[in-house]
Amino acid sequence: MLIEFTRAEVREDESWARAADRLAGGRGPVLAVDLSSDPLRFQVDEEHTFALRPMTEGDFGALERWINAPHVATWWDENRSVAQIADYYGPGIRGEDRVRYWVWEVNGRSVGFCQDYRISDHPEFALLCGRPDAIGFDYVIGEAAHVDRGLGTSLLWVFLRDFVVPAYDGATELFAAPDHRNTRSLRVLAKLGATEGMWFDEPQGDGRVDTVVGCSIDVRRVLA
Ligand SMILES: CC(C)(COP(=O)(O)OP(=O)(O)OC[C@H]1O[C@@H](n2cnc3c(N)ncnc32)[C@H](O)[C@@H]1OP(=O)(O)O)[C@@H](O)C(=O)NCCC(=O)NCCS
Repeated sequence: MLIEFTRAEVREDESWARAADRLAGGRGPVLAVDLSSDPLRFQVDEEHTFALRPMTEGDFGALERWINAPHVATWWDENRSVAQIADYYGPGIRGEDRVRYWVWEVNGRSVGFCQDYRISDHPEFALLCGRPDAIGFDYVIGEAAHVDRGLGTSLLWVFLRDFVVPAYDGATELFAAPDHRNTRSLRVLAKLGATEGMWFDEPQGDGRVDTVVGCSIDVRRVLA
């Protein structure tokens, strides 16, 4: 079921997510489809269920496959072997650092992963991107058959609305910075109501430097 409304129909004291819930009249969960223009488009998806669970060490084999899949590898360069994955993701999983790692499930099948963190916990990145007060997030659908079907938009919506916003009291900005050539990722962020900001150069682990586009979601306007 599609739910469409113009920005003018959103009440002054409500976010786009709240307006969508109101206009859906109790049917739900309501998911973003395309918030990049007017009217805003949401849906109730009767075909798919979307879930997140904390990543565990048992997911490292799947992560290796996902990160090395050609549609991901271009945009996700570091930590390719299971040993590197264990070194990189292990501390967060064990609660030894403050990055939270999640696995995405569609209809009960694990299809990818995502992560969230306070940008202020990563001073070098905070300096580069200039958004120290924002909450950062990153995301991958590793199963190629699940890409380009609108699922990433739904999964990110569930992740940001139900897991990220409630976890960071008072956060007003969610931030991601895809490579400027990653048009699919930039399009997904636009569909989630993000606005593009500063371009900046981000050094990668292998010595390369990527030019990335800072994209921000205004929590109060879109998701609160
Ligand atoms: C980014 C990602 C999570 C998006 O999930 P998804 O399910 O593919 O996204 P959706 O299907 O919801 O939306 C994709 C949009 O990009 C568009 N798109 C796809 N390829 C594109 C391209 N080469 N150029 C421009 N737009 C493109 C699609 O048409 C769609 O837009 P539309 O709905 O307006 O038609 C997923 O593609 C992915 O994991 N990619 C590889 C890893 C990655 O890039 N992660 C992000 C790092 S910042």
